[in-house]
Amino acid sequence: MDLGLNKMKAIITGGSRGIGLHTGALLASEGCDIAFCGRTPSDIKNATDQINAAGGGTAIGFQADLESEDATREFARSALAELNGVDILIHNASGFDMTGDEEGWMRTFQVDMMAGVRLVEECLGALKASEAASITFIGSMASKFHFGRPPSSYGAAKGAMRVYANDLAQHYGKDGIRANVISPGAVWFEGGAWDKRKKESPPFYAAVEKTIPLGRLGTADELARAITFVASPAGLWINAEHIAVDGGQVAAVD
Ligand SMILES: NC(=O)c1ccc[n+]([C@@H]2O[C@H](COP(=O)([O-])OP(=O)(O)OC[C@H]3O[C@@H](n4cnc5c(N)ncnc54)[C@H](OP(=O)(O)O)[C@@H]3O)[C@@H](O)[C@H]2O)c1
Repeated sequence: MDLGLNKMKAIITGGSRGIGLHTGALLASEGCDIAFCGRTPSDIKNATDQINAAGGGTAIGFQADLESEDATREFARSALAELNGVDILIHNASGFDMTGDEEGWMRTFQVDMMAGVRLVEECLGALKASEAASITFIGSMASKFHFGRPPSSYGAAKGAMRVYANDLAQHYGKDGIRANVISPGAVWFEGGAWDKRKKESPPFYAAVEKTIPLGRLGTADELARAITFVASPAGLWINAEHIAVDGGQVAAVD
């Protein structure tokens, strides 16, 4: 199947590692030019080099902390200028609050929710001009299921993101813009949060594996495939959806 990504333009937040990096690499392998951000210069350079060395579309990385409104808007404007527009916006970075303290609530609300709002505002004109515009937020199954952790802003911010995505889809559908949320379950990749948990507590990691019908955690590449399909022109009729990609871990029917 042709995903229709050749010569398209994508902006990805948090593209220097993990799910964001795999998604950027997959989009570029399909001929899409990408611009992404992260905070850590060495990771940005490694990701840029890796994607550009593979051929296909080009990648450019920007250093930006999405906790800051100014940095978020500056990233969006620089990415739009570099790509000369955008067709695909993927908001993947997270503040990952697990503490539930004031700082955690504010950080995660800024990064997961408000950065998404600011990016959409900056990109709206270019998305309206696109022939196949899509906005994809990376959520979490914590937006629909309680995983036993103390209350924090993580699931709440991801839940707010789902409401916002539906509002965008309903309001801007007339402009040809789709909006969806893809929620990963537990995803393992080298150096990621689940890799650290696996090393720190193999019994805990094994217990989590047992909660997943497929008997293992997902991979960043498996998430990237789902995100890429939904964001691509091949996913044109997928709109205003929340899509779980969790291997069946959350044993619920929507
Ligand atoms: N992995 C999982 O099991 C899992 C499960 C459910 C949902 N998710 C969701 O999937 C998405 C990606 O997760 P992941 O595991 O791939 O995350 P990750 O390995 O922590 O990577 C996150 C990416 O975002 C960047 N980032 C983080 N904070 C940022 C900030 N304030 N400003 C700019 N960039 C920032 C990181 O680079 P820097 O740190 O250098 O900035 C990195 O490129 C997140 O939205 C997460 O909530 C993941």
